[in-house]
Amino acid sequence: MRAVDIIQKKRDGEELGRDEIAFFVDGYTRGSIPDYQASAFTMAVFFEGMTPAETVALTESMMRTGEVLDLSDLPGPRVDKHSTGGVGDKTSLILAPLAAAAGAYVPMISGRGLGHTGGTLDKLESIPGFRVGLSLKEFRQTLRKCGLGLIGQTPEIAPADRKLYALRDVTATVESLPLIASSIMSKKMAEGIDALILDVKTGDGAFMKKFEDSKALAEAMVRIGRGMGKKVSALITDMEQPLGRTVGNALEVKESVETLRGHGPKDLESLSLELAAWMLHLGGIAPGLDAARTRVRDALASGAGLRKFQEVIGLQGGDPRVGDDTSRLPQARETIELRSEAEGRVAGIACRAVGRAAMLLGAGRETVDSRIDPAVGVVLHKKVGDPVREGEGLMTLHVNERGRLEEATALLRQAVRIAREAPPASPLVRLVLDR
Ligand code: URA
Repeated sequence: MRAVDIIQKKRDGEELGRDEIAFFVDGYTRGSIPDYQASAFTMAVFFEGMTPAETVALTESMMRTGEVLDLSDLPGPRVDKHSTGGVGDKTSLILAPLAAAAGAYVPMISGRGLGHTGGTLDKLESIPGFRVGLSLKEFRQTLRKCGLGLIGQTPEIAPADRKLYALRDVTATVESLPLIASSIMSKKMAEGIDALILDVKTGDGAFMKKFEDSKALAEAMVRIGRGMGKKVSALITDMEQPLGRTVGNALEVKESVETLRGHGPKDLESLSLELAAWMLHLGGIAPGLDAARTRVRDALASGAGLRKFQEVIGLQGGDPRVGDDTSRLPQARETIELRSEAEGRVAGIACRAVGRAAMLLGAGRETVDSRIDPAVGVVLHKKVGDPVREGEGLMTLHVNERGRLEEATALLRQAVRIAREAPPASPLVRLVLDR
């Protein structure tokens, strides 16, 4: 078999076989196929697409270049959630402990934030002492002890994707549906899970802005997961405004703790509960979705979810007292109020701009090697539909460095649209893909 023939076949719009895809992925990962041929291949896929069978084969090949966790020794269903990322999306910190408290095993391998989006690992690392870099052995021990483990991607998981994603980033081939879907699913399927709920975001703050694109991505990922014998469903959820009221790492951990105490913002609480319920439902832990919803609501109301969060924090080297006293989290030196210059209702909050402003304050990464400041970010006092008076606080900025403050403030000012009337709020869950 020769790489050039595989590239040519894809370039000409023909369907590749499993063996050809595996040959290419293995060869590229081991270094026998060079970057220039892999670039041509990804560009051919970008233009010609892939059939569902090819996409499953690509996912499996990438997954098999690394370790696939075998967690079959755990005495219960292994379930996870994956989100395509957004602004203020801290549901993982809430739903993972809730699902674990309700009987699931949650082996969650998460990513870092980039650009306007935040990452679960960065949020967790704002908890003093928290280690996301556990070895796979420690990860298993943590999972066995408390039903939950929260780590970052290790070099052993899907190394082909790591190499290919970096290449796509510099060859303008990231935005290809089969490549995105197989990249995400190769990492998730390596977690050794039985079931997965996907939270595919749609709207201004999402990776996919258009609903139809989000739907196509969700369908592709569901098809891959099911093709690999797992229980997978997807929710397509709204990212037209930040989720909850905080954007920034320690601020988001604080809001997650408040939510686990039963005092969280409604949108964040309801999406976290819904996704956790889907985890239990797909994992077969509850007899149906309604029973699953009751189980996770009970785990919230009884405080079992919060206790589970504190337990995993302690097991992963962090300070579990943040669950009782969030002032133990990093705090910014200064807070600055942004006040409304108009009266009316909040008609829109440009989500991407809020994410970018938080990044400029230091809460996110402009490039992969930027440093994060865990304490900084933005707290929203108003959400879409809320009435606002002139001079009333719209947001509080938590600031350490003033270097890019002016740019961030200008973005935030423009981000909030105030009008006489507010549009009807769009539903948080836009579509469920369950078949
Ligand atoms: N996230 C991933 O993990 N892979 C992609 O290709 C895009 C987003």
